[in-house]
Order: sequence, then structure tokens, then C-alpha cells
Amino acid sequence: MTRPPKPQIVEYRRHLLVCTGRSCVADGMDAAGLIEVGHKLMAAGVLRDSELRVKPSRVDCLGACRSGPVMCVQPDGVWYCGVTLADFDRIIEQHLIGGRAVDDLVFHRGPVAA
Ligand code: FES
Repeated sequence: MTRPPKPQIVEYRRHLLVCTGRSCVADGMDAAGLIEVGHKLMAAGVLRDSELRVKPSRVDCLGACRSGPVMCVQPDGVWYCGVTLADFDRIIEQHLIGGRAVDDLVFHRGPVAA
């Protein structure tokens, strides 16, 4: 059996995981919210900027289904909950561009280094 070719992924600085699981959809990350998140990332220029490049991925569940919508920024190990679109503007400016977590939205940090 031949293996399929390995996918190519453009280098990125941060991986933004956006939960679109049932609970997070009920808390606001529905299809319209997800589209708006994409528009905000595009408008901020972080999808293309080679130094800031953010790779967004939607995930089915991050295992923290209370107080959604839940997002996680890796490799920083920063987990956000209850993220409104206005909060997401702050996450873009302060964290994805500025490199500092938005502490009042953080509910968890991890994984921790061994
Ligand atoms: S559905 Fe979003 S964390 Fe589980």
C-alpha cells in the first residue's frame, strides 16, 4: 500500500483553535460567529503576515464545554472562554498581534513544560 503524499502547511506563529461544538454553538459560536471570526482575522492581517501568521482551525470540542465559546491559542497554552466578538477583537490586538494574553478572559493555561 502506498501512503498518500504528505500535506504541505505554510509556516505559522500561532495556532488558534476555535470550538464549534454543540455547547459553544449554543453559547454563540454559530456559523455566523465563525464567519465573523474569519473576517476579523483577515481584516487584522494575521492570516498572511509572515511574522504574526495565525493558523485558525475549528474543532468539534476542546473538552471545556461550559462558558463557551472556547478558544485556545497554541503554542502559548492560553485558553479563553466566554469569548464574544468584542472579546475576540481584544484577543487579536493584544494576544495575536501584541503577544500578551488577555488575562481576564483566560480560564486555563497549558500544557505546561515538562
Ligand atoms: S463544545 Fe466547545 S468546548 Fe466542548
